[in-house]
Amino acid sequence: MRQCDIGLIGLAVMGENLVLNMASKGFSVAVYNRTTAVTDRFAEGRAKGKAIVPCRTLEAFVGALVRPRKVQIMVKAGAPVDAVIEQLIPLLEPGDIVIDGGNSLWTDTQRREKYLKEKGLHFFGVGVSGGEEGALKGPSIMPGGSAEGWQAIAPIYTRIAAVAEGEPCCRHMGTDGAGHYVKMVHNGIEYGDMQLICEAYAILQATLNPSADELAGIFAEWNRGELDSFLIDITAKIFTRKDPETGRPLVDLIVDKAGQKGTGKWTVGHATEMAVPLSVIASAVEARILSSLKAERVAASQVLPGPAVTPYAGDRQALIDAVRDALYASKIISYAQGFVQLGAASALYGWHLNFGDIASIWRGGCIIRARFLNRITEAYRRDPALKNLILDPYFRDIIVQSQANWRQVVQLAIGHGVAAPAFSAALAYFDSYRAERLPANLLQAQRDYFGAHTYERLDKPEGEHFHTEWF
Ligand code: 6PG
Repeated sequence: MRQCDIGLIGLAVMGENLVLNMASKGFSVAVYNRTTAVTDRFAEGRAKGKAIVPCRTLEAFVGALVRPRKVQIMVKAGAPVDAVIEQLIPLLEPGDIVIDGGNSLWTDTQRREKYLKEKGLHFFGVGVSGGEEGALKGPSIMPGGSAEGWQAIAPIYTRIAAVAEGEPCCRHMGTDGAGHYVKMVHNGIEYGDMQLICEAYAILQATLNPSADELAGIFAEWNRGELDSFLIDITAKIFTRKDPETGRPLVDLIVDKAGQKGTGKWTVGHATEMAVPLSVIASAVEARILSSLKAERVAASQVLPGPAVTPYAGDRQALIDAVRDALYASKIISYAQGFVQLGAASALYGWHLNFGDIASIWRGGCIIRARFLNRITEAYRRDPALKNLILDPYFRDIIVQSQANWRQVVQLAIGHGVAAPAFSAALAYFDSYRAERLPANLLQAQRDYFGAHTYERLDKPEGEHFHTEWF
């Protein structure tokens, strides 16, 4: 029997689709699933006639692989990954490579990498984005691990990845947890993008009350411009879908309670730990949490009235354009914050992340793929040391030009009693970041007043600390 180029453990949706993708690109793949019936069903179904070798035991699976063996694990993040690793260790040999393609916490990846290194094994934490379809046709892939391990697996992963502007959406991110960290921030940005779109929808509804068909048209139109992206595109499509049972737009029948698996919370948690403002993504995470308190909100809606609203009487198209501008400006802020976080983590862990590469591999295959990632790629390729995306001339100009519309939309949301936490947070970040002076002078005085925490003075050398006896 021909030995397989790679093996994959865990035949859930993502695992199956990745295997089919690998096979379609000319790689032979051994597969194993804990429940044998799943392997059998796959072998008899979608895998039939392809270079896919079903294995009923882990021993047979490992034995089917070319050396150095490449084993990709696609099981639920957390303890199941450790369990599979423990089962694999006695079967593998030094130089073999274990790859975790799930949404694992980067610190788990760092721990596992260290542990397997002691045993002479390479461990890769690989972020894979693109959902079911991406996995099958070409995802965006964010690998983290040793340079030596990368040499061995690069031909496979760069081949199965999506291609954007002629470049594969897969680049070695850095050592140990770098890949999973970048994927985590990708997911945080995904949360931000989705929340911003939802706020645009809420503001349009509150002011213009468009039908679902009109909303579909608005988002489809936005998708023809700078906002062109997977998430705007699917949003337009969602508005066109009618419920077969009632004939109503399906979106109107869906319960307004957001779920989340945790990567957004991880992103925000670590940003805070590193003292990086991540207010847009944080607002998105909080908005999901608040949405999930449905019963409490329904009860509160009976006793907490909002403002008396006068119907919007201005120009309809001008407002739609203003919401688009507010969305774009807020999106730029969200990415700016996300990239600052990546920079801080890169310095903390010595990953030497390449931001141009990261933006470039997000241009295709992944959930946040968007035309404007070309602009981010260009910005970081122009200036790899760029401190903040909004200082890049291209993005600075967009923000400055959108500013009036952005402010108008946030004011309108506030006036109408519509929560727009991510739009507002983005604008507040912009106003704080560009402020030569913030009210933190007063804050320092307060800290010194009650805790003798001292303060610095504008008229004295930096680093010199003063205390006042306030009472
Ligand atoms: C991707 C997605 C994927 C998944 C998220 C959803 O890049 O393909 O991000 O990883 O859809 O985990 O996360 P929530 O369930 O937290 O929204």
